[in-house]
Amino acid sequence: MDGNGRWAQNHSLGRIAGHRKGAESVRNIVEACRKIGISYLTLYAFSSENWSRPEREVRALMTLLERYLRSEVKVMLKNNIRLLAIGDTEALPEKVRAVLRDTIEKTAGNTAMTLILALNYGSHDEILGAVRKLIDEACQGKIRASDVTLERFAGYLSTRGIPDPDLLIRTSGEYRLSNFLLWQMAYTEFYFTDTLWPDFREEQLIEAISGYQKRERRFGLTSDQVQKRA
Ligand code: IPE
Ligand code: MG
Repeated sequence: MDGNGRWAQNHSLGRIAGHRKGAESVRNIVEACRKIGISYLTLYAFSSENWSRPEREVRALMTLLERYLRSEVKVMLKNNIRLLAIGDTEALPEKVRAVLRDTIEKTAGNTAMTLILALNYGSHDEILGAVRKLIDEACQGKIRASDVTLERFAGYLSTRGIPDPDLLIRTSGEYRLSNFLLWQMAYTEFYFTDTLWPDFREEQLIEAISGYQKRERRFGLTSDQVQKRA
């Protein structure tokens, strides 16, 4: 979700006002995904590198996150949405952790859609963590190198049980992954748009999905093979 700062600048506002507007897009997009029938939506809300931003901005982002969770739990319950979080959430302020835990618990039984917030998330850290766990278990003689299949490795990541993304949307004209779901996006389709996140709403989402639907996902096969299998 990129471009809150530039949106604010374009409107002669401070960066925090941009984040507030961005939170409105979050509400709009979650609702739109639920309506369309998207089963999993992952939002990169705060990266492990975002801590280096000015302290005031980090504090405002945490407050916004806390408020968002407090106000949205009702909506999630009403719309049968389950909340999950990936990333090192232990490092978040206690107030945020508490409401996050609470919302995850309250929505655990919901089945229509899973909303995953990436918070203090970084893909390198996630992969390293998995490797460390595997080495520990190997040293204890619990696992052998040949046991480490793709499926097993994926089970050591914070996304265990969550399917790999079909579509990645990056807003604001940036063409980077920024340490996001590197392992999980081996076959993900990428969509880049100049639209800034606060301006990204249902209409823009539908456009992205329509583009995605016109693509042929070959997973290494030839077009001919894919056609025959369909
Ligand atoms: C939102 O956009 C990203 C978050 C960390 C929430 P930015 O704050 O990165 O916006 P730009 O890149 O300055 O426009
Ligand atoms: Mg940015």
